Amino acid sequence: MSGSSSNNKKSKRGGSVDYERILIFDTTLRDGEQTPGVSLTPENKLQIAKQLDRLGVDIIEAGFPITSKGEIEAMKMIAKAGLNAEICGLARTSRKDIDAALDCGVDSIHTFIATSDIHLKHKLKMTREQALEKAIDAVEYCRSHGVTVEFSAEDATRTDPAYLKQVFKAVCDTGANRIDIPDTVGVITPDKMFQLVADVKTVVKNVPISLHCHNDFGLAVANTLAGINAGARTAHVAVNGLGERAGNASLEELVMALYCLQRRKTGVHTELIYETSRLVSRITGIVIQPNKAIVGENAFGHESGIHTHGVLEMPLTYEPMAPELVGRKRWIQAGKHAGGHGIDAQLKELGIDVNQNQLKDIVERVKDLGDKGKRLSETDLSALARAVLGQTAPDEKMVTLQDFSVMTGVRVVPTASVRVVIGNKSFVASETGVGPVDSAMKAIQKATDSFGEIRLKEYRLEAITGGSDALAEVRIKVEDANGVTSSASAAGEDIVVASVEAMLDGINKVLLKRRKMAHQVQS
Ligand code: KIV
Ligand code: ZN
Repeated sequence: MSGSSSNNKKSKRGGSVDYERILIFDTTLRDGEQTPGVSLTPENKLQIAKQLDRLGVDIIEAGFPITSKGEIEAMKMIAKAGLNAEICGLARTSRKDIDAALDCGVDSIHTFIATSDIHLKHKLKMTREQALEKAIDAVEYCRSHGVTVEFSAEDATRTDPAYLKQVFKAVCDTGANRIDIPDTVGVITPDKMFQLVADVKTVVKNVPISLHCHNDFGLAVANTLAGINAGARTAHVAVNGLGERAGNASLEELVMALYCLQRRKTGVHTELIYETSRLVSRITGIVIQPNKAIVGENAFGHESGIHTHGVLEMPLTYEPMAPELVGRKRWIQAGKHAGGHGIDAQLKELGIDVNQNQLKDIVERVKDLGDKGKRLSETDLSALARAVLGQTAPDEKMVTLQDFSVMTGVRVVPTASVRVVIGNKSFVASETGVGPVDSAMKAIQKATDSFGEIRLKEYRLEAITGGSDALAEVRIKVEDANGVTSSASAAGEDIVVASVEAMLDGINKVLLKRRKMAHQVQS
């Protein structure tokens, strides 16, 4: 049977496949879920699958059905959800695994067997011939059930190339619709990947080649790009680069590199990348490092005077792509590297107009605070500007904490009391909750109710250091009744105090945003 599939000529995303387009095979819900510490409920998986479908990926590898009952339930829910993407299930080359995937109603099966000698000898305890037979049998079995089949030679990049080509040729002759080259332990380099894809192409003829690159040396995206340049059609990727160990090629990095650097098309709606990344981070609990490309907090943030001046004049001076392209916004940080242009722009956004002397004074104070290691939030900058402008009366549109206490224990209902100052008035509130943080958050919300309901929408706590005296970081998101949202964070050894600080900063940021919006309407 010829391996060039008629199945492949029809895209589940409608019409015929555009052969120029690189197909995105998303494995967030399979390899991504194999990230140490990640475990998703069927409902979590369905929610992510729906978002991936909105994002426009071509194939969703929804899971590895044989692993658990929950996995089967999730796969069935996703397969039945009426999504546009092809829904794929992973299976070893055993009929039991394949049956489990078929039972879930998937559109395609990704079946794999290791082909490197190290895996054959130590893990599978099989000869090369036995592995080849298993591969052929699995592909034949899948095709006889009418599903699309993608075959992976696990650890392909450490496999004897002659044997690898023999396996790929045999599965293509059996009817595989796609073959995949996994760089299972992330050891290949871009030049070698280019060569390997070119070499494999000589035996698989027109069966499309996929790439599945791991990031152990930080090369997953570079290797995938190199393989695509050698003629591979499909990229296995995961949102936020999730996956075993150092993860898989990251969806956001690969898609944007293809689009911005190589002018290659994918079906991804790039403006949904950031919200997808946030959703996956929130559901999986895997926090994104601030300097992560595309989706990290700092990816579109600027602090140094030279850079802020540059981007304010012409964004392309220090931004390789517009933040809006991936659903983000540029932001400027007031800090010790700041310059007048950046601070002035930030103050204008906050609705604060200053003259040149006042600006100079503010910049100096920002730098002094920066030298003392202080990170200034917008709220801090606004307070600092008010001080320079001689506005000593408390800002009637800002909340400051006066005092706070919390009581907790065994057989005690956790209760928090808080006193905040708004303008020159004090507001006191007490609340109970399921724990000290919950009661504190509720007490603050009650004390600040005169601002209209500003409610906690997301709360995340992370230990930065180990031990019972660990430094913890609290990240929150708040939202008011009109949908104005703001994120804030605070770090400290006491998680309740850090939570209170983050909450007040979040509320003040919403108030600043409202002020900015009012200022924009007036001007
Ligand atoms: O990394 C790998 O080799 C895999 C296979 C299942 C393709 O995830
Ligand atoms: Zn993998």
